[in-house]
Amino acid sequence: MRDSNLQQILDLSQRVIAASGQARAVAAAMKVFGRLAAKEGARGAEAAERLPVCQHTVEAALADLAARPSPLPELATAFGAAEGGIRWNRRKTARSTDEPFYSSHANAMLIGPGGLEERADLEVGVTVMPAHTVYPDHHHPPEEVYIALSAGEWWNAAMDWTEPGPGGIIYNPPGILHAMRSGDGPLLALWFLPVD
Ligand SMILES: [Fe+2]
Repeated sequence: MRDSNLQQILDLSQRVIAASGQARAVAAAMKVFGRLAAKEGARGAEAAERLPVCQHTVEAALADLAARPSPLPELATAFGAAEGGIRWNRRKTARSTDEPFYSSHANAMLIGPGGLEERADLEVGVTVMPAHTVYPDHHHPPEEVYIALSAGEWWNAAMDWTEPGPGGIIYNPPGILHAMRSGDGPLLALWFLPVD
């Protein structure tokens, strides 16, 4: 049985994405949720670890969500409950000489390689950044759906900088160059990638 908080995050995320009415985002996310419903991966082996940047940023974003329309408060509660078990990491390519970015971001895999649930056919993860931080341009073969859980802006090569707002959705087609940045407050976002 999948951890109940993790399952709750997935169920609520599916509701949020479905409610967006964004056809390509919904189609990509349904690949992820369909695979998650079909089977459960092995429990992950990574020890939980928080990075210093998580202090205050995660809490501030979750506190803000508590005052938003349902299901965002429920999603914040489930994420807050699951967060103690996750391993936050810096991006693999981040270098300690690359400040302030190096100390101003954290990613965690909830489901996927190194996640709470180990599997290779999809990734569900989370990113947090404090105010005034840019996550560098990057690209990857799988398409990607973000759920914004805070303010912040997203960009891709086919879209100007866009602020979806808490509970808003961003879709990145396969391989497209994309980035995100926080404004005056932290950025917290979930991401969903079907890995073919
Ligand atoms: Fe990405």
